[in-house]
Amino acid sequence: MQHKEQGGKKKDQDDGSQHPPHHHQQHHHQQHQQQQQSPALPLCKSSEIPEGRWKVFTVGSADVLVGRKEGSGRLFAFDNSCPHRGASLSKGEMHGDNIVCYMHGYEYNVFTGKLENMKSWKKEASWVEQSPEWRKSGDLVLYEVFEKDGHVYIVVSDDHHRHHQ
Ligand code: FES
Repeated sequence: MQHKEQGGKKKDQDDGSQHPPHHHQQHHHQQHQQQQQSPALPLCKSSEIPEGRWKVFTVGSADVLVGRKEGSGRLFAFDNSCPHRGASLSKGEMHGDNIVCYMHGYEYNVFTGKLENMKSWKKEASWVEQSPEWRKSGDLVLYEVFEKDGHVYIVVSDDHHRHHQ
């Protein structure tokens, strides 16, 4: 199904993005937003994801967590598999803008995707020395999410297909 992305797409873009000279210098790293052809998939009614709640949807080969921040009501969507060791992030909890993985306590910002805290490893210094590779983690795989006419949609780009091959 092809849906136009107007409406939700604007929420995550800089207001200054209409100025061509600095277009490629945007500090948002979500470059997949520039792909105009990406299909938007309807997921559920907006009312099914109230503030402070989330749901997990299977999209292709990925499980995608879609939630709504308490207070601001802003939606977020990311691959439910923890970038560290693959634990299910839906079993974690929110800490401000971060999802905290229940497995090792890593925190990822649900809006930027960035790893922001690796607290449990700092406590267990001996583990870090024995296998430093274990500390490494990428960032969350984000999905663009928006609402239109009372429904929630995500945008699945080619980028995501590459991640899940
Ligand atoms: S698997 Fe999520 S923090 Fe390790």
